[in-house]
Amino acid sequence: MPPLTATLRALHGDITTLDCDAIVNAANSSLLGGGGVDGAIHRAAGPELLEACRALHGCRTGDAKLTPGFGLIARYVIHTVGPIWRGGRQDEATLLAACYRSSLVLARQHGVRTIAFPCISTGVYGFPPHLAAPIAVRMAREHGMGLDEITFCCFSAADLVLYETALASGK
Ligand code: AR6
Repeated sequence: MPPLTATLRALHGDITTLDCDAIVNAANSSLLGGGGVDGAIHRAAGPELLEACRALHGCRTGDAKLTPGFGLIARYVIHTVGPIWRGGRQDEATLLAACYRSSLVLARQHGVRTIAFPCISTGVYGFPPHLAAPIAVRMAREHGMGLDEITFCCFSAADLVLYETALASGK
């Protein structure tokens, strides 16, 4: 019997270098590229990724859409759009949770067994990292069934500590 839910792990690194079935992109609603992890993923995947994204006609905050990974090691990129932090009373936590849930549902629909997430919304979009990490871990626990491994790819050592803490907590 396969395990009911995925193994969760956190690491410090560049998501574009990971050998997973899918990596998740913290995109914007145009899906036409940007800075941060979005820019890094487009650079590593090559121009075909932008062409594939154009055909998707954008994505709503909290939703997710899938493309091939092109020049990446990962077979797929799952593009999701996190909320812009506006103080915490504009449904930001619910929308961030929806990003993780939508990405995991889409991954399962495409037979993905291993997936890596960046710290969605916690860069340019300003979501406080210490509030985001427990949401990400909770969604992975609740919606990771059918996957083998879910990786939280932290670009800073500080983020890695937040994820290690959230993973160590049973909540
Ligand atoms: N690997 C893993 N994580 C990374 C990498 C990388 N190569 N590069 C950056 N990060 P951000 P957001 C981390 O700003 O807040 C874009 O312009 C980064 O340190 O990329 O969701 C989009 O087009 C941070 O922890 O995404 C949107 O317009 C995390 O990725 C907007 O930014 C997310 O930071 C989305 O903002």
